[in-house]
Amino acid sequence: MSALRIGCIGLGNMGAALIKAVSTRPDTSIHGYDPDRSKAQNLAGVSGFVAARSIEDVLRDADFVFLAVKPQIMSKVLAEAFPALRPEICLISIAAGIGMEQLRAWSEERCAVVRVMPNTPAMVRSGVSAVCFEDPKLTEAGQATIMELLGLLGQVHILPERYFHAFTALVGSGPAYVFHFMDALVQAGVSAGLGRPQAEQMVAGLLEGSVKLAQETGFSLSTLQHMVTSPAGTTIAALNHLDRTAVRGSIIDAVHEAEQRSRELGEE
Ligand SMILES: NC(=O)c1ccc[n+]([C@@H]2O[C@H](COP(=O)([O-])OP(=O)(O)OC[C@H]3O[C@@H](n4cnc5c(N)ncnc54)[C@H](OP(=O)(O)O)[C@@H]3O)[C@@H](O)[C@H]2O)c1
Repeated sequence: MSALRIGCIGLGNMGAALIKAVSTRPDTSIHGYDPDRSKAQNLAGVSGFVAARSIEDVLRDADFVFLAVKPQIMSKVLAEAFPALRPEICLISIAAGIGMEQLRAWSEERCAVVRVMPNTPAMVRSGVSAVCFEDPKLTEAGQATIMELLGLLGQVHILPERYFHAFTALVGSGPAYVFHFMDALVQAGVSAGLGRPQAEQMVAGLLEGSVKLAQETGFSLSTLQHMVTSPAGTTIAALNHLDRTAVRGSIIDAVHEAEQRSRELGEE
């Protein structure tokens, strides 16, 4: 495994998650900067992490640099970074809604740029990320390194940029849908008389076990449903209610709403 010099600008939730995941790679230095010094202090002790004093310092000491700042300040951060950009650097933006065209314009095509959309389970290295490799400046070796780094956060899918709104709506926002569903199940358990802590544990186990069953058997989602749906039984009564109240259609519409909102935000 070759030595790598990684950088991270912005050490908030996602920046810290990235750094912790990348720190598990041997022979890797990670220079991180955030104007709030306490963010770097929280990462003291993470293998290979060095608290940088400025954006310029990060760009001097790193070749693959994650941009993990809020979308609203990305143009300001890239303006500050600009004088220190070298052609060997690859900038990897994780900012929602900031497109390749903007990133390439703001960096004046001085170096390669890559757009990534992770989701919050990346914080526990079980994320699902989309990556867009549409910058002709990016080399094959650079792509391979980025795939390796993102793989430390969980699943990675190479996607053309035109699918990023769909991915954001389905997977970026997705953890909120899953937690909403889990919360509703817990509420059902509590209203049926179960204690909340126990209901929460049961629902977490239900989700974990169901995903494992689907993955390990490879059965289709409908076969897996049929396996618990006996004629005139309890499950079919519940599924009938879900269909009468159009829950499936609501979920599909909710994701389309999120996709539409993502497009609108991209145009603002
Ligand atoms: N959270 C998610 O689910 C998620 C998913 C996918 C993508 N993203 C993207 O990830 C990015 C980061 O999100 P987050 O949730 O990690 O936000 P966050 O916790 O607010 O982290 C952003 C960090 O950037 C720092 N910062 C502000 N100005 C800076 C500057 N000039 N140079 C360097 N750092 C600076 C902020 O410091 P202060 O707090 O002091 O301002 C903060 O610590 C966003 O663009 C977001 O769209 C987030």
